[in-house]
Amino acid sequence: MAAKNLIRRITSCLFSASSIPHKANLASINRPSSTACYVGIQENTNRLIVNWKDNLIDEYPLVWLRDNCQCPACFDQSSQSRTINFSHFQVNQKFKHLAITKDIVEVQWEDGHQSSYNLQWLKQRSFLPKEQQGWLDANKAPYNTWNANYFKSIPVLDFKAVLQDDETLLDWLHTLDVWGVCIFKNVPHSLGQVANLAKRVGFIKKTHYGEEFSVQAKANATNVAYTQGYLQLHTDLPYYEYKPGINLLHCYIQYKGMGGDSLLTDGFKIAEWLRENDPGAYKCLVETRVTWSDVGQENGNRFHKVHHAPVICESSDGTIRRINYSQPQRDSHMAVPIDQVENWYRALKKFYDLALDPQYLVTFKLQPGEMVTFDNLRVLHGRTAFGENLKGERHVQGAYVDWDEARSKIRVLKANKSNQKYL
Ligand code: OGA
Ligand code: ZN
Ligand code: ZN
Repeated sequence: MAAKNLIRRITSCLFSASSIPHKANLASINRPSSTACYVGIQENTNRLIVNWKDNLIDEYPLVWLRDNCQCPACFDQSSQSRTINFSHFQVNQKFKHLAITKDIVEVQWEDGHQSSYNLQWLKQRSFLPKEQQGWLDANKAPYNTWNANYFKSIPVLDFKAVLQDDETLLDWLHTLDVWGVCIFKNVPHSLGQVANLAKRVGFIKKTHYGEEFSVQAKANATNVAYTQGYLQLHTDLPYYEYKPGINLLHCYIQYKGMGGDSLLTDGFKIAEWLRENDPGAYKCLVETRVTWSDVGQENGNRFHKVHHAPVICESSDGTIRRINYSQPQRDSHMAVPIDQVENWYRALKKFYDLALDPQYLVTFKLQPGEMVTFDNLRVLHGRTAFGENLKGERHVQGAYVDWDEARSKIRVLKANKSNQKYL
């Protein structure tokens, strides 16, 4: 294709030729489509270039294009899965010919294989950092942290609505993703409601305490939660590598006297505060691996769970990802260099004191007919003591749901809403 032609096509799209990177190396020029005014292959970078009508320029590595060929030999439509045999795959992909008809880009590869890509499909898979971030955020909403004051504005939803209506279900899961906590009213006065809610998402995450578990004061309790004592702020089950993601607690019977109140603190808020105001303590809590454990017997089955993980876990990009904290379930084994022990205790004390600070700690008494749901990877929760000598009834029924199931449901509900097969 002559350079003269290239300039004419570019200028007819009302942006300057200089906005096309390395135009001299463009190997192929094609007819404008309804959404793109220019598509070509840049040989020095081995990338497909798409110049959209909104002036954005997307680039796609040829190796990625070949890997994502949508033809029946490379991609199985019924399972929506890549089937291209990777043992025959060439990383250095060379193209022979490029064509565009309407909104379909057709690439003929050097080995004769033919691939076609819908432009809209390509646009949704942009490599531009802003577009990539948008897609990542749609898959996992960025979180908003809260303190005791802000907590009052966190949504309260109707339980009957969440069981029947997908919009409320999405609302709930989105609230949990962003705020980490959501309360339900109008929960029927019968056991099994946590399971009903879990079924709306997918299924319950079973642990050694069962699928649904009853938090009631019992003689010879297998867990300190099953007493009438003060339950210090904690996250549940830090001794699981695959720690259950979402905690559902239905207040079936509340203690009639003083006590039995719920305590909640946003663990991400505390971690963020430390990161900003006491980076040394933050670093120590991120870098020190703690041994969490739970040992005992439930329904005749003995268990001994152990997991090593810091109190504050970060993702590889430095995002706060998971909080582990439970005073009763921190092992006395401490595989930490001896000269770091005191420093770590100081940092942990700071973390816990902050979590209890009235500025961050929320206290409320759940009533029968209410259910509190929260992100167990993020929110610290606890309970004030109630009664003594096993007198005075209180019964909370609990269950867990994993974030994998919840995020999957969020995607499915969003796709349904926008009439798409998949997001
Ligand atoms: C638990 C728990 C809270 C409550 O069982 O882990 O935190 O209100 N229970 O009893
Ligand atoms: Zn193919
Ligand atoms: Zn708990």
